[in-house]
Amino acid sequence: MAKHIGILTAGGDSPGLNAAIRGTAKAAIGQYGMQVIGFRDGFRGMMENRTVRLDGSSLSGILTVGGTILGTSREKPHRMPIGNKVMDMTDVIVDNYEKHHLDALVCLGGGGTQKNALRLADKGLKVITLPKTIDNDVAMTDVTFGFDTALGIATEAIDRLHSTAHSHHRIIVVEVMGHRAGWLALGSGIAGGGDVILIPEIPYDVDLVAEAIRRRSRGGSRFSIVAIAEGALSREDAKHVQTAEANIEKTKDKTERKKAKSELRALQNTHKGNTLQLARRLEELTGLESRLTILGHYQRGGTPSAADRLLATRLGTAYARYIEEGMYGVMIAACGEGTEAVPLEQVAGKRKTVPPNHPWIESARFVGACLGD
Ligand code: F6P
Repeated sequence: MAKHIGILTAGGDSPGLNAAIRGTAKAAIGQYGMQVIGFRDGFRGMMENRTVRLDGSSLSGILTVGGTILGTSREKPHRMPIGNKVMDMTDVIVDNYEKHHLDALVCLGGGGTQKNALRLADKGLKVITLPKTIDNDVAMTDVTFGFDTALGIATEAIDRLHSTAHSHHRIIVVEVMGHRAGWLALGSGIAGGGDVILIPEIPYDVDLVAEAIRRRSRGGSRFSIVAIAEGALSREDAKHVQTAEANIEKTKDKTERKKAKSELRALQNTHKGNTLQLARRLEELTGLESRLTILGHYQRGGTPSAADRLLATRLGTAYARYIEEGMYGVMIAACGEGTEAVPLEQVAGKRKTVPPNHPWIESARFVGACLGD
């Protein structure tokens, strides 16, 4: 009997999602004779049983399109806003899985989605995930789709900011996305020739950054580009965050732990807007006029790069084989030229940050970029 597959996209959208939906569904239908439905708007749509049939016509023409034809949301099965309450709707999702006689559910998402998928796998659903996010911070995969496109967009932005920074003898601080990982800022900072690159993995000292900019001015370059990851922290702020994280670790009581977590969240929220303060502070310390550019969601939109289409298609088409082989509770990771099925327990709740000895860090230092330390 033909297998029935459900697909959903969850978390922030990412270029390459449609290529992955297409690859997944085409391989399932064409190679294995499976039937495929999509759930709209992530776990929310699955809970509300909003579906679309994925077949030849709905899959046509989507390879090059940004975003996701299914829609997405950040809602979690176990904490879903219903009216003015937040409720655990996992059982409703399980019911809908059974209602459609699904043999597997494919979840396309980032770190949060991996955790939610594991929760559903623990409830007995046959779940497989694919790693997508512009942040490239999903554990156990070489790379995520969406990253290459966002890297290209951020690099082009830095290229363009160079000429205006140069003409006005200004510092331009450019804030790059990436959540709490520095892959995007580091990659685009190196590729775009950023003079200062600040990432969450290396807490920065503003005085050292100012000195690097002053040194450039003394050498005749009276402008500087500072590429900063949205999650980058000064040394002082990083100490506060580390203390709050340690508090969570050592707190065993459930209520106290919840409180410690919300304190950490509040602390992290106070760091939003850090980049504006940094731009102002650098102006004071260097005497050079400063401007801030926040690239924001611009990095997530539009046509996926060829590399992302290829990766998403490679991972998407591979998954159908894993389902046919009866492999569930795994993420299909990019591993060298091929793919690997990694148990969700090894992925969920983990974040892949830039290791201190990563070759990109050495390269950045060798071309003279200041990393703020
Ligand atoms: O995870 C992708 C990402 O774009 C992060 O880089 C960023 O921190 C976050 O999503 C923004 O989320 P939202 O789209 O919900 O504002």
